[in-house]
Amino acid sequence: MDEEILEIKKYPDPVLKKNSQPVEVFDEELAKFVEKLFASMHAHDGVGLAAPQVGVLKKIAVVEYEGKSYILINPKVVDQKGTQEGEEGCLSFPGIYANVLRPQWVKIETQDLKGEVQTLEGEGYVARAFLHEMDHLNGKLFMDYLSNLKRNAIKKKISKNTGGHF
Ligand code: NI
Repeated sequence: MDEEILEIKKYPDPVLKKNSQPVEVFDEELAKFVEKLFASMHAHDGVGLAAPQVGVLKKIAVVEYEGKSYILINPKVVDQKGTQEGEEGCLSFPGIYANVLRPQWVKIETQDLKGEVQTLEGEGYVARAFLHEMDHLNGKLFMDYLSNLKRNAIKKKISKNTGGHF
């Protein structure tokens, strides 16, 4: 086991705000990249990781929760119900957590490593993880859901952490 661990891009890296391109080729290279995403997520104790977070602007993400692994390729929401509020963090925002409102349940359409369309359902925390990772594929970050006041407080905290100013 000597999986390559990919470097996680941290906010405010501009790659995190970019839109990803759909995956069109389902080959060995894609399978290897997904393996690296899982390995990198494990190495950083994450429950999800999206390709833009390792600097790859492709619509690919992985989620793992309670022993179940999910591969999201070109995912889209096809149905959703209810709302939930809960604390969210992100590997691109180390040490930052905030309450985010999300649907309680989602049904998504995604493709597997062979390009076959799969339907996945997620409830509670899994729904939250799916939606958080899918946002990454559209350049959307969890702090975009917060009020200006909370967002600015987070920006301030991050610039202090990195020694930057303004
Ligand atoms: Ni994230």
